[in-house]
Amino acid sequence: MRSVEVAEVKGLKKMAANWQRAANGLRAGYRWFTGGQSLRVTGSRGKAGRSPMFYGAVAAAGVVAGYSVVSVAAAEAELHPPKYAWSHKGLLSALDHQSIRRGYLVYKEVCSACHSMQYISFRNLVGVSHTENEARVLAEEYEYPGDNDEEGNPTTRQGKISDAFPNPYPNDEAAKFANNGALPPDLSLVVLGREGEDDYIFSILTGYFDPPEGVEVREGMAYNPYFPGGVIAMPQQLFLDSVEYEDGTPATVSQMAKDVTTFLRWASEPYHDDRKRIGFKVIMVTSVLALVAFYWKRRVWSVLKSRKIVYYSKGS
Ligand code: HEC
Repeated sequence: MRSVEVAEVKGLKKMAANWQRAANGLRAGYRWFTGGQSLRVTGSRGKAGRSPMFYGAVAAAGVVAGYSVVSVAAAEAELHPPKYAWSHKGLLSALDHQSIRRGYLVYKEVCSACHSMQYISFRNLVGVSHTENEARVLAEEYEYPGDNDEEGNPTTRQGKISDAFPNPYPNDEAAKFANNGALPPDLSLVVLGREGEDDYIFSILTGYFDPPEGVEVREGMAYNPYFPGGVIAMPQQLFLDSVEYEDGTPATVSQMAKDVTTFLRWASEPYHDDRKRIGFKVIMVTSVLALVAFYWKRRVWSVLKSRKIVYYSKGS
């Protein structure tokens, strides 16, 4: 015990001595730099035979390293989204289906100009946010490539309820060309595909600011601190009253961002509500079964556990 203490004290002393040497070195280096006295004047040479200059250099390198770490962090400035109180975040909470319906409207009127959703078709909306008739009418608003006619010319046909949401661009090159070289990602699975999920999508949609000093934003790009790198090829899309909700909800930017994010959460995870409902049932049933199993185990073992073993010697 004692020897450990002694070792610690020695260690501290050594550290203090090293700091002292570093300070001396800095002082010496400063004098040398300003053309003052020669190094030897303050030079109390270290035990290891290192000159004060060595310690001065180490200290200076430390200061420089400290500054460069700070500047690297500044260049990578990126905001992490805060945690929002989504109504579907609870262990037993379902998605807000009215919000999904409003969110579809936002997707249709704003986002679908650039983003496809290739894994979602109109009939997926049935029973979630729309009736079958409504979904059919929505599908019929669009045109899809049809069969060739008898002369071999391509034709188009009206959309069917089983069609996937249409892609706004004929191919990826056209999409990039229209968007400053950036490809608008397919939104079907985007909520599960980004760290931060709902919080991140909401933050991106509402997180547009003037660029800070020193950040260069090219024409057609926008500054958004939530996007990795800070400069995004999607300028702000949501503005007050970008859409008109049929249920009279005021179409503020955050309302639309919340609704479209809820819609995209549903699209990424259509089994969300079932997952929670079935999970709840499984836990209820298994906990009752666990109680029964516990009682049964005690019952079966009770004979063994409550027996008493007594030894007698023969003669007594
Ligand atoms: C004018 C075309 C356009 C519209 C309209 C548009 N976006 Fe985008 N979006 C883009 C482009 C381009 C990118 C790629 C940005 C990049 O990589 O810098 C993008 C990227 C995204 C991303 C991915 C960001 C990431 O982390 O990679 C999300 C999420 C997104 N958009 C959601 C939406 C939503 C929701 C809407 C509707 C409210 C919408 N966008 C409307 C062009 C658009």
